[in-house]
Amino acid sequence: MNNRDEQLLQIKNELLELKDGELADLRRKTKMLPVIGEGSHEAKIMFVGEAPGKNEAATGRPFCGASGKVLTAMVEHVGMKREDVYVTNIVKDRPPDNRDPLPQEIALYAPFLDRQIDIIQPKVIATLGRFSMAYIMNKFGLAAELKSISQIHGKVFKVKVSGGLGDLTIITLYHPAVALYNGSMRQQLFTDFEIIKKIVL
Ligand code: URA
Repeated sequence: MNNRDEQLLQIKNELLELKDGELADLRRKTKMLPVIGEGSHEAKIMFVGEAPGKNEAATGRPFCGASGKVLTAMVEHVGMKREDVYVTNIVKDRPPDNRDPLPQEIALYAPFLDRQIDIIQPKVIATLGRFSMAYIMNKFGLAAELKSISQIHGKVFKVKVSGGLGDLTIITLYHPAVALYNGSMRQQLFTDFEIIKKIVL
């Protein structure tokens, strides 16, 4: 096991032991799993979603349900494979009835995401949906450019980060779930994804 594997395993163990918050309580009561992240620990691109849904909490794997099918199709559309990228969420336990995560839940789980970013050191972070967009843009000093997702979907932001991350590109994408109910949004999502081809490949 290399150093990245060990550090990510440490995060997994901490999340399994996490006692704080309603979501971890609920996870234990319902015998579900935390969803930490999946994919290459050397990935150049990290996708950050919102929170696990039912399938994800049952299996411990991010984006393995209906939205995950859309994400996989988009990743393949731009010539990559799911195993080449790293996929995670801000919130690591499932909110009941898939409700939006609360600010205190984002605050509780975000330090785990921060550590995943520091360990994997992606060149590109692609946010999926408005919660990860807001969190990542604020984290990397882009608060002034934060607008509604309908205004900045498919946009590319370049930031210089001190420490190991160096030059980082942030791409703000719609959440794949939008494609499940709306065909024109599906088309938009695929079009937005094509920017990744130019940046990563
Ligand atoms: N939606 C998300 O935001 N993340 C998942 O892992 C699954 C659905």
